[in-house]
Amino acid sequence: MKRSIAFTGKGGVGKTTCLVLFLKFLIETRQDHRILVIDADPDANVGDLIGEEIYFKDTIAGRMKILQGKIAKNIIAPYSNSKQAIEAELFNCILHKNNFDFIEMGRTEGVGCYCSVNNVLKNALDIISEDYDFVLFDSPAGLEHFARKTGKDVSDLLIIVEPSKMAFSTLKNILIVSDDVKLKFDNYWVLGNKFLDDRKDFFRKKIESLNEARIQLLGFISQDPEIMRYNLLSNNLLDLPRDNLTYKSAKELFEKLM
Ligand SMILES: Nc1ncnc2c1ncn2[C@@H]1O[C@H](COP(=O)(O)OP(=O)(O)OP(=O)(O)O)[C@@H](O)[C@H]1O
Ligand SMILES: [Mg+2]
Repeated sequence: MKRSIAFTGKGGVGKTTCLVLFLKFLIETRQDHRILVIDADPDANVGDLIGEEIYFKDTIAGRMKILQGKIAKNIIAPYSNSKQAIEAELFNCILHKNNFDFIEMGRTEGVGCYCSVNNVLKNALDIISEDYDFVLFDSPAGLEHFARKTGKDVSDLLIIVEPSKMAFSTLKNILIVSDDVKLKFDNYWVLGNKFLDDRKDFFRKKIESLNEARIQLLGFISQDPEIMRYNLLSNNLLDLPRDNLTYKSAKELFEKLM
């Protein structure tokens, strides 16, 4: 695997939107690369933005729940071949699109504890990820997943911030929590989203005032009426015209990340 990039930040800042714009950029500029998108947000939205409806039974959580039932009924022996069964189920969850693959983790709350399969699942995800040049994670809002060290194998942390005090506080907290749980990333990027021109300098200064040598401000994506319209009309964001000005400037930022 070349790069694994987690899109994170406060709720609603545009994590999923930026991930899909980045995916569009990769599809257009890195045709010969293998791309996997993992929707790790229990409140999954990537499918919504790319026009895919994924049912619970086709998510990893859904498959694991069914498998857990089979193990409980002794249809599959718990330790002898469950590892293979989990890996096989995981491969079955992969949705193969023209230019990328997609997996949805699904909502694990209420599914019951499947601790016995969790380690195998983690390894299997690592094995699957090895087959790709780029793995993009859509992370849940908040910091909970950092506390659980979910981002252990991520090379690039991309923290999305919208022009609000709360989004900036979340950025600071993400850095604190990732230190607390000793998560280390090769790159810490900050990406401003939904920005108007007159807010950018203010935000740049706020970032400088953090005195954080490890973070790099990637730049700003504007608030774009066309992106809002695509969302409202349930249009596939991957079909946003290539000459959309916001997308064109986003592409320049994404190229910096490469
Ligand atoms: N650059 C942008 N211009 C206009 N609208 C945007 C932009 N980025 C995101 N939005 C809109 O903001 C809303 C939230 O975006 P999105 O769902 O990507 O955020 P999120 O951080 O993934 O949210 P959640 O925390 O719920 O997962 C959506 O309506 C989306 O269309
Ligand atoms: Mg989202």
